[in-house]
Order: sequence, then structure tokens, then C-alpha cells
Amino acid sequence: MCGIVGYAGPQGAAPVVLDGLSRLEYRGYDSAGIAVLDGGRMRSRRSVGPVENLRRTLPEEFSGAVGIGHTRWATHGPATRENAHPHRSQDGHVAVVHNGIIDNAAPLRAELAAAGVEFTSDTDTEVLAHLIAHLVARSPAGSLEEAVLDALARVEGTYGLAVVDDRRPDRLVLARNGSPLIVGLGDGETFVASDLAAIVRHTTSVVHLEDGEFATVTASGLRTFTRDGVTTSRPPVRVDGRSGHRELDGQGHHMRKEFLEQPAAARDVLRGRLDSRLGTARLDGLNLDARALRAIRRVKVIGCGSSYYVGQVGAQMIEELARVPADAEAASEFRYRDPVVEPTTLYVAVSQSGETVDTLFAVEEIRRRGGQVVGLVNVVGSSVARACDGGIYLHAGPEVSVASTKALTNMALAFALLALDLGRVRDLSIADGQRLVEALGRIPDQIQRILDDEGEIAGHAEELSLASSLLFIGRVRGYPVAREGAQKFKEITYRHAEAYQSSELKHGPLALVSPDLPTVAVVPDDELLGRNVAALHEIAARGGRLLVVTHPGVDVGGLDVRRIDVPKSEPELDPVLLTVPLQLLAYHAALELGHDVDRPRNLAKSVTVA
Ligand code: M6R
Repeated sequence: MCGIVGYAGPQGAAPVVLDGLSRLEYRGYDSAGIAVLDGGRMRSRRSVGPVENLRRTLPEEFSGAVGIGHTRWATHGPATRENAHPHRSQDGHVAVVHNGIIDNAAPLRAELAAAGVEFTSDTDTEVLAHLIAHLVARSPAGSLEEAVLDALARVEGTYGLAVVDDRRPDRLVLARNGSPLIVGLGDGETFVASDLAAIVRHTTSVVHLEDGEFATVTASGLRTFTRDGVTTSRPPVRVDGRSGHRELDGQGHHMRKEFLEQPAAARDVLRGRLDSRLGTARLDGLNLDARALRAIRRVKVIGCGSSYYVGQVGAQMIEELARVPADAEAASEFRYRDPVVEPTTLYVAVSQSGETVDTLFAVEEIRRRGGQVVGLVNVVGSSVARACDGGIYLHAGPEVSVASTKALTNMALAFALLALDLGRVRDLSIADGQRLVEALGRIPDQIQRILDDEGEIAGHAEELSLASSLLFIGRVRGYPVAREGAQKFKEITYRHAEAYQSSELKHGPLALVSPDLPTVAVVPDDELLGRNVAALHEIAARGGRLLVVTHPGVDVGGLDVRRIDVPKSEPELDPVLLTVPLQLLAYHAALELGHDVDRPRNLAKSVTVA
């Protein structure tokens, strides 16, 4: 959540920072701001709304070799200009941009107020600006680094922080604790960002700061140091330049571009990982050999939001194919309930961004308690990926739209590979393994066939967009699909959409059913078809309108209902395909309602605050 960009070098900070911020807007778009140092003079600007608003307010000669910028997703205080970052100290010398949350902001604020500081915002970040300025004033050498170290020694909470001081006009000081910061090394210039996307078009040579690490950045490079001021050695790593590709490529929205990319993305996650002869998957990145895989007694998947729902799909695949007990849990809950961590359990952290702080903290907690964690992560080198013992990269390519699509499909496919691998070292027969490998190989083309029906699905979406509330139902394999369908719908249409197990209808939700409340029913052609059809009858008998997502030729009990026919895979893999039309439904309903599909209100792409 929120994005940080910084720069030191000859290009001038403002253009680099503004460009970087617009590439990070998907992390927050409530407000934005910038501060630049031009010799010994600091200038800053802040504005409400997207980065474009900020760009428009900047005077032409807003120049300076060093600068920091921020795009905000509000945590403390509403989205106003006063609450936008950078925050400046009362004496005007220090400016701070910050991602994360300062837990003890209230007592620090009271202390500073008692010392005469007048606060101008509701944010926790402003405390940091004043505290650092006070400490610079007190430091005999006036050292910004020392002041940042001393200030953060008094702070509880999480931060990715960039600080400038107009009395040290050649530098930015950075600090990381629980919120990522990356330094990109150029030729006589240095870039800073909370996310690779902001800087990868300038350089692919980067240093990821670790938690508890600090850095001084100048045009000629960086020096990293610990809380005790001891210099550390951090050789740069090379990153994939393509991860910065954020263009629309002729599509109107990132979400549409990304769901249309799914056939190609699906090929990429499967490429080189299917073994049709042995009917298994080759997953070297897991760092688990057959013996280690056989020793696993339980699988626990953790993730947030849609990634958690795909985790439910995955847990079910694992139980079905490997007969290992498996379940999924919201990572945002996991670490707060003093979980039992077992050495024979394989923990699977699933995340598109790899920066979701709840998922990251859960991984760290599991590892602290001696558990082994593998990651199913899209962004290479992200915090979750680096915190895990091994994993499966999703290879979905950059995902910009807040509403995730292609990454989720690739997560489900990666789970299928994991389930296959775990199954084949146990009792899953070679014939079943080969059946699934063959089915997996067909999935990219089958996704394409669903996408080819976009026009028809848009017609259904138009009708659904008129309803103020909807039900999504499914059972067993269909239930996580229904949950994800409801999630996507509410995320971008702002309509109330609720998912239920169809088996639970009679226990309460049936009371909601009326002609005004449409139900989207996920009905795979599997052993539960009869039970699913019975639920459809219960709804139809009470005047409920139905849209059934099923497969060609499936008899939905002779009911005259609207339907979307999705190509049939093997039953274990059907959830992968059944999810795709629900993305298109949400997208077209949101368009119908005139919403900003890529930037839904109140949300951000990566949730980096707990
Ligand atoms: O980057 P992650 O996969 O960890 O993100 C988890 C959720 O925040 C994310 O899936 C969210 O629910 C999406 N906006 C869904 O479309």
C-alpha cells in the first residue's frame, strides 16, 4: 500500500519521481506528493487524487538533483492534501515519505506537541519528520543518518522510509522494517523505490534492503548500515527488466489486458514443469526431494483475499490428489491466533505481489517457530519469495489491475502442479497422473475459448449490474470459485455480492431469495451435480433469478435459466476454468456502471499494512 520513489542524479529528481509514482499508483491513489532538493533549498508539493493531479500543480522550474515522492493509500486520516506525504518538519529542513504504520505515534506526538511542535496533519508519519528534525538539531555533527537511527530506535511499528534534509542536499537516508525498499544502481545516478515497477526501466541492478537495515543514497551509489551504524556489504542483484512492463498495449484497461493474457500466462506457468511420461510435475524450485515430499503429513495454505480463495482451491486439489490433509487460512488471521506450527506440515504462502504484509508476517512467524514454508508467488525476488524456503514462481507477468485475474489462474495451476507432485510420490497412480498432465496441457486453449465468449458474458453482466445485491453459490470444488466470483464482483462493481455454499442455503440465505436478488451458481459436472441442481430448484421455486456457470451439455434440471458454458476439464481441475467467466462478468458489470475498473475505490493492489 502506498508507493515510495526517490532519486539522486543528473536527470533531475522531479521527472524520475513522477514517472515512478505513476507506475506505483496501483499501490494507492488517494493523494501524492514530492519534495526535491536543489542545492541547499527544499521544495515540496502535495495534492489529492492521482499522480496526474500532482504533476499539474508543479511549476515548470521544479528542479533539483535529489528528491523523494509518495503515492498514498490512507491509513491515518482521510485523503487530504495535509495528510499527503512528504511530511516536513516544523523547521522545514526535513521531509519524510513513509510506508507502514507507527504504532506508538500517539505518545510521540504528545511528547513533541509538549515540546512546542504544531502538527498539521492526522498522520503517524508527521511524527517522524519532527522527531528526526529535533534529533538532527541535537546531534553534534548534525548527522542525518544518526538522527534517523536515533529516531527509529524510539519508534514501534513498520516502515519503509525515505528522508531528505536540505542541509545534506546530496543524499537520501532510507530505513526498512517490514515494508520493502529497493535501491537501483545506475551510472552516476541512484534510484529508490518501494517496488521494482517504479525503477526497472532505468536499471536492473538492484539492492533489496533487509528489515532492520538503513542506507545512505547519493548519485554515486549507496552505503548500507545496521541499527548500530555498522556498514554492511550488499552486492547488487540483477532483476528481470520485463517486470517493469506496465503499458496497456492498446487495451482500455489493465484488467482486460490481463485477463486476455491468461492463455499465454497459463502456458508460462506450466512450461517445463509437466512430465507426461511419469504423469507428474517437475518443481525444482520447491527444494524438496521425493523423500521430503513423502514426509509431509499436512499442508496449510496461507494467503489473503483472492489468493486465499485460490488457496482453498489448492488445498482441495492437494487433499484429492495426494490424500494429505490440507486446508487454507487467511494469512491476516493466522499469526494472531498463536498457531501450532508442526515440522511435518508444509506451509504454502500464496501471493501475487509477494509484498502482502499479512502473508509475509505469517511466513516469518512460521519460520520462527521452525516450520517450512514454500511460496507460490508471482513477483520474482519479492519479500514473500525471499522469506520462503523454496517455491513455485507463477510467471504470470506484471499484474497492474487491483482486481487480480491472470495471477490467480496461475496460482490455481501451480497448486495443481504441487498436488500432482505430492500425489505421485504417494498413491496417485501413473494413469491418473498422466490424465491430469494431459488435461493441464489443454487448459490454455480452453481459457482462450472462454475469452472468445466475452460478448455473450458481457450481456449477462449488463443484467447483473442492475441488481444491488447478488448471491454466488457453489459447493465443494465450486465453493471457492463462488467466493472468488463474489469477491471480484464486489471489488469493482461496489455491489453487495455474497458467496455461500449451496448446501447451506436452507440454513438461512434462502430467506434472501427473491426476483430482485440474482444468484450466480457454479455447477461443475461432477459427482455433486445432482445436489447442485436441487439447490437451483430451491431458488427457482422461490422466484429467484439464476445465472448458471457450468459445462456444455449439462442438464440443469430442465430449468429455463441463463447459463455460461465453460469447457470441461478433469473434475479436479474444473475450478481453474470455472473462475474465468466470473472475472469477465465483474469487469463488464463494472464498465456498465461506469466505474474505474483498474482503480476501485478504497483499495490498492498490494496491501503492505497489517
Ligand atoms: O498480492 P497478493 O496476492 O498477496 O494480494 C492478496 C489480496 O490483497 C488480493 O488477492 C486482493 O484480494 C485482490 N485485489 C483480488 O482481486
